[in-house]
Parts: sequence; structure tokens; C-alpha cells
Amino acid sequence: MEQAPGTRITMEKQLKSLGKASRAVTRVISVTSGKGGVGKTHTATNLAISLASLGCSVLVLDADLGLANVDVLLNLKPQGTLHDVLKGSLRLDDILLEGPGGISIIPAASGVEELHELRSEEKLLLLEEIERIAYRYDYLLIDTPAGIGSDVMYFNSAAAEVVCVINGEPTSLTDTYALIKVLSTTYGEKNFSVVVNNVADETEAAAAFRKLTRTVERFLKVKVRYLGWVPADGTVRECVMRQQAISADFPSSKASLSLAAIARKVAEQKPEGTVKGGMQFFFRQLLEMTSYGEEASC
Ligand SMILES: Nc1ncnc2c1ncn2[C@@H]1O[C@H](COP(=O)(O)OP(=O)(O)OP(=O)(O)O)[C@@H](O)[C@H]1O
Ligand SMILES: [Mg+2]
Repeated sequence: MEQAPGTRITMEKQLKSLGKASRAVTRVISVTSGKGGVGKTHTATNLAISLASLGCSVLVLDADLGLANVDVLLNLKPQGTLHDVLKGSLRLDDILLEGPGGISIIPAASGVEELHELRSEEKLLLLEEIERIAYRYDYLLIDTPAGIGSDVMYFNSAAAEVVCVINGEPTSLTDTYALIKVLSTTYGEKNFSVVVNNVADETEAAAAFRKLTRTVERFLKVKVRYLGWVPADGTVRECVMRQQAISADFPSSKASLSLAAIARKVAEQKPEGTVKGGMQFFFRQLLEMTSYGEEASC
């Protein structure tokens, strides 16, 4: 059914203006997983710190909009919440946090609805605010929620590169297969990379990656790239408990060294082509998808 005329005009105007000031080289990478608790937030934040140590400017978006994660993990104290931004009382700049290693973080806020539940004006405001900030950075890393819910799909299909975090457990592999299936068949996503986290050794990591790719490449005809593995390391849990970032506070730990190697690989292997790269594409895509959902439900 037709959208309300007023809403459409705003939407079209916004679509035109979005991305105008964008820095074409900003790489937008989502860090995601089929199964929860496999290490997305740990990977996204420490990968960000490792990229920053290579001289890159990095912004992390905590896209689990209803459940704050990254700021709690890093013991940061948000000066305001996305609620304040949505109400218009604060700009996103006011709630932007500086994290370890000089990374920037857009914190989520407990209690904010998921993106698909926001009203269209709220979505526009939020996306416009994120975009205004994100173009200043070399990387925008998105720490998504787990699973195959709407917000996970929005962020993953709008990002140019999707990094799936898996561990060796069968449920992690089957849930990630399901995620890749929906993203590739429904959203046409073709660029997937994998980080195997929290495993004993390289052999276990390689076996988990092989199991996943055998099924994915056979049934979905999608290529999956291996980014590397992160060992199960007691220092990770210690850091979580102390709200520290392992890559900043224990850079010589086994997990930090692995994450540093993954960061180098990410920095070296830019995705082919520019069709889906850059902020402009990301925000247009995100906005079009979220508004499509709204039109369809009218
Ligand atoms: N390499 C590792 N070594 C040891 N423990 C780890 C490792 N990676 C993650 N963990 C443990 O797993 C927990 C969950 O990690 P994290 O919060 O990053 O998962 P997540 O995928 O973001 O979870 P959610 O789906 O709830 O957002 C951490 O608190 C930590 O204790
Ligand atoms: Mg998380």
C-alpha cells in the first residue's frame, strides 16, 4: 500500500542528501553470528583497537540497539543515550565515546526499540546522525545482534563486508549456515568472511571452517573467506570481568596477537570492486530496507 505522502517526500529528500559528504574510502564491516555468545563483541571491539594500532581511524557501532554491550564491556560511561538522540535533545556527537586505542564508539542504549520498530522519522534521524559521523573514519565496524532477526539483516546486508564469528560448536555452524543462507538467497549478499573464535588450536579452527564452507559452497554457491582464528584464552574472560580491552591492555596475549594478525589481513585485503563499498551505499541501502519494511506493513 502507498506510504503517507508527507513521509515519502521526507524519505526521498533524505535519500538524496544521505552520503553527500561521505568519505568513499570508509569500509563498512559488520561483525555477526548465527548463534549468540560466540564472541562478536569481543572480536569487533578488539579488531577495532588492532586496526587503530595500524594507524586507521575506527568507529564501532553497537547495533544491538536495545541492549548496551560495547560500552559495558569497555567500562565506558555514556553521556547520553540513543533515546536522547531520538528525542532530539542530544546530537550523536554528544554521546559518542572514546574507547581504548583511540577508537570511537556509538553506544547502544538499553530499552531502545529495534531499528525496525522505530517510526520512519526516528529511523531517518538516527541513520542521518550515524552517517554524519561515520564518514570521518577509515572503518565503521558494526557489532550486530545474533540470529536472523530484521535488524541483523538490515545491518549485514547494508554492510559491504560481513564477518561471521563462529566457534567449533555444531550449533554455531548450523546457525551461521542459516544466517548466510538468508543473507545470500534473500538479500543477494555474496561477501562473507569467517573468524573462528575461542578454539583450542589451529587444527580445530581449520576443521570448523572446513565444515562450514563445505556446506555453504555446496548448497548456497557462496564463497567464504578465512580471516583467521582466535584461541580460547583465559585473559579474555579476565578482561571481560575487569571491563578491559585485551588488545589494549594485554597486547602480547595469545588472543591479542591473533586479533592483530586478523586486523592486518583485513587491512591488506580490500574487497574487490567499489560497487558496494563506502558510506553512501551503506546508508542508502539501510534506509531503503528499513522503509521498505514499513511500506509493506501499511
Ligand atoms: N577467545 C576467547 N577466549 C576465551 N573466552 C572468550 C573468547 N571469546 C569470547 N569469550 C567469552 O565469551 C563471552 C561472550 O563473548 P561476546 O560477548 O563477545 O559474545 P557475543 O557473540 O557478542 O554475544 P551476544 O550474542 O550475546 O552479543 C565473553 O564474555 C568471554 O567470556
Ligand atoms: Mg555481543
